[in-house]
Amino acid sequence: MPLLEVKNLRKSFGENEVLKGVSFTLDGGEVLSVIGASGGGKTTLLRCLNFLEVPDGGEILVNGERVFYIDDETGKPVTVPGVQNIMGMVFQQFNLFPQYSVKENLTLAPILHAKSDKRRFKENKREILGEIDKRADEILSVVGLTDKAASYPGFLSGGQQQRVAIARALMLSPEVLFFDEPTSSLDPELTGEVLKVIKGLKSHERAMVVVTHELEFARAVSDKVIFMADGVIVEQGPPSAVFDNPQSEKTMAFLNRSEAY
Ligand SMILES: Nc1ncnc2c1ncn2[C@@H]1O[C@H](COP(=O)(O)OP(=O)(O)OP(=O)(O)O)[C@@H](O)[C@H]1O
Ligand SMILES: [Mg+2]
Repeated sequence: MPLLEVKNLRKSFGENEVLKGVSFTLDGGEVLSVIGASGGGKTTLLRCLNFLEVPDGGEILVNGERVFYIDDETGKPVTVPGVQNIMGMVFQQFNLFPQYSVKENLTLAPILHAKSDKRRFKENKREILGEIDKRADEILSVVGLTDKAASYPGFLSGGQQQRVAIARALMLSPEVLFFDEPTSSLDPELTGEVLKVIKGLKSHERAMVVVTHELEFARAVSDKVIFMADGVIVEQGPPSAVFDNPQSEKTMAFLNRSEAY
């Protein structure tokens, strides 16, 4: 059974139909890259899968369970409560809180989450905070930032800030982790570092989706590539198939244009 299954996802902004029925599946342990022209709906797809936007139609299943669908009777979209924590997002501009230390950036959301269960939090405060702190230390070590725990984001390099953003997303143990253009805010020589971090995060319990303009990066990082154009998936498959043996004229034209840069 796939970890993530997206069926016929649709989203419009006014008259502008951005996603016209997008369907794909992703297994645990897989990394998917999404490529396509600017304005083609890649970020919108990620935002819909993170529930930052409400899709107009379609279904999203995680481990076979529907977490988003359109109610047959009311015709209204339904998002299963709590599902936001299943999906983690690393934003293009990192969106770190500048007034908090690296460690606090990691612990803030889990502490708020724990506090939402008032009684449990009150009765087990020390234990809960201790666990969150320990988890933050473990994750900082995974992304190689143990020595920056007390620093503030403004004093870190772009690559370090990005690793904080990744660490923060990992705190809630998402089943699917999404990256929007993870290399575009960084100096080109850091692309290899991002590649290493993402590959290091591969695990059977987790799938990752990476939107990127960098085709070489997509080829290196992913098990599967989706090429999107005009709101639909034009072509999908392993990187070797999509890049070296594209079947669609549209894909060929896009790859030729991209190579020109
Ligand atoms: N919040 C919004 N309100 C209205 N229109 C939007 C909104 N977000 C995106 N759009 C429109 O949806 C279309 C797709 O945008 P999107 O950001 O998903 O493209 P993209 O593929 O990520 O592009 P890029 O490669 O430049 O990041 C664009 O025409 C954009 O203007
Ligand atoms: Mg985008």
